[in-house]
Order: sequence, then structure tokens, then C-alpha cells
Amino acid sequence: MDSSLLLTQWHNFFAIYAFSLFFVTSNKLGPRKEKLVKIIEVLEEAAKRVHKNVKHLAGTKESGTDHGMGAGGDISRRIDIVAEKTVLDYLREINFECTVFGEECGMVELSPNPKGFIIMDAIDGSTNAVRGLPFFCCSLAYTPEDKLSSVTDGVIMDLHNGDLYSASKGKGAYMNGKKIHVHKEKPIYFVVGVDISGISPDVLPQLAPILSASNHVRHFGAVALELAIFARGLVDVFVDLRRKLRITDVAAGYLIALEAGGYVVDENGMPLDSNLSYDKRISFIAAANEETLADVRKKLGLSAKI
Ligand code: IPD
Ligand code: CA
Repeated sequence: MDSSLLLTQWHNFFAIYAFSLFFVTSNKLGPRKEKLVKIIEVLEEAAKRVHKNVKHLAGTKESGTDHGMGAGGDISRRIDIVAEKTVLDYLREINFECTVFGEECGMVELSPNPKGFIIMDAIDGSTNAVRGLPFFCCSLAYTPEDKLSSVTDGVIMDLHNGDLYSASKGKGAYMNGKKIHVHKEKPIYFVVGVDISGISPDVLPQLAPILSASNHVRHFGAVALELAIFARGLVDVFVDLRRKLRITDVAAGYLIALEAGGYVVDENGMPLDSNLSYDKRISFIAAANEETLADVRKKLGLSAKI
């Protein structure tokens, strides 16, 4: 092999590896000693702790107690607060030097010297969680920059059954440690996922050609987990054109879907992106392959070309 090519490959490998490690200052080791941890492992551990702390709360009356308006603009419920506190406590415990961008708690600086952001929707699908409908999750993503497209690591934990979905940029997507892929072949049943909750009457007609063309439309009520099951190949396309989602809802699912081989674009068919803002609202189309994306684009009146 050409020696300059070999050198470039080594350089890339080293850069990716170094990037996925994070310095954590351990109290036990003393203030100056630092150890390296993988960011994805931090997110996974945080999500596992959320699962442990909320699994007995879901579906109970207590889970829905009103805790006032959260940073994202919705009422925070007891289960949201318990889940967020679990993540924040863990990150503090390991001295993870970051700023948390949380759906309920807002921006929380955990270090005067943050090295990046954790985008946290500690409970996605709060309505399902409170009512006891078995479809809700914890969604955590890490980005070194203030941008969705810069997310390097994402974890989604199904808080009903404990399935753990994860991805790090360039390394593929996993479910419980096994690689997952979107459904590339022609499926027996073509399943269309949508979110139409609270959709405005102006936007609904746009979706009509997609809804009426399918006998297999599904709507589960937790966008992050819906992206995870899309990434796993259980759904062929997922469309949310409501302009209601926040970056907290999609950050982890976006990376997991891309790393599983999916296409994720905005409502105009352009690459999806957003900064970390509570005001910015997101719509997206996730499609398992080019053909499906072209078909959806056509139905939405966008040019079929990607
Ligand atoms: C909600 C869920 C739901 C979607 C809402 C989101 P939350 O997230 O993803 O499916 O329809 O727009 O806000 O509030 O339960 O974290
Ligand atoms: Ca939430």
C-alpha cells in the first residue's frame, strides 16, 4: 500500500479514537488526576441509571405530578424530573466537563471549562410514560459544537423493555451491542411512521398523499424511539412535518438513523441541521433508501431528485 495513504489512514483512525475519549477528573484520584472515558459509555451508563430509577414510576399517578413549565415549553412531570436528575447527578459524580442542554432543566453548565454539550431528553414520550403506554425512552446525545450535525455520540434507551440503541459517528449503529441497519430490501409490509399530533390544518393536506397511499401507517408517540425502531429496520419511512420538534427530541435518533444507513432530511429535502436552541423547531423525513426518499419527496411535491 502507498505509504502516504497508510499514514493518512492511521491519522484518521487516531483522530477518531482521540475524539471519542473524554477527560474525567475523578474525586477519588485527587483533583489533578484525570482518566479517559469513552463518551458513548458515559451516555449508556446515564441511560441505564434512568431506566433503573423510572421503571417503577411509569404509569403511576405520581409519575404525572405537575412540576411547572420546563425549558422546552411543556409541563415537566415528576417522571421527567426524576429522569433528568438521574443524568445530571451521574455526570456530576464523574465530573464530566460539559454543558447539558436539557428539555426540562434548560442549559446547565457542569464545568467552567465545558468540552461539549449533552443534549438530553431524559424522557421522550412523556405522555406514554405517564399513562403507562409501553413506548417511551431516554435520549442522550453528545456534540462538541452547538450543532445537530456535529453530534458524535447518541444513545436511546427503551425505558419499557431496557433495549439500548447507540451510535458513534463513523462506527455504525447498535442495539444491545449488535449492529443494526435500516430495512434496505423491499419489505413484506411497507410501514410508514408518522407523527401528526397537533398538526396544523395548513400542514395536514401536505401529508395526505403519504397517508392515503399506505394501509400500514403507524404513530407511536415518542419520536426518538420511533427513529430507533426505524434504524433497526422495523419501519421504512418516518415523517414528521409538524414543525414542533426540538433538537432534544431528535439529536440521538438522528445519529443512530444515519449510522444505520438511513437518510434524514428536513421538510425541504435538505440535510437536517439545527443549532442548540429552545426556539428552533424541526421537521424531518427519515427514509430507509433512496427510492423511498424519492417517492416521499414526490408525494410532498418536492423534486424527486436527492
Ligand atoms: C414528544 C414526543 C412525541 C411528539 C412530541 C414530542 P416529549 O416528546 O416525541 O411523540 O409528538 O412532539 O414533544 O415531550 O415526550 O419529550
Ligand atoms: Ca421529554
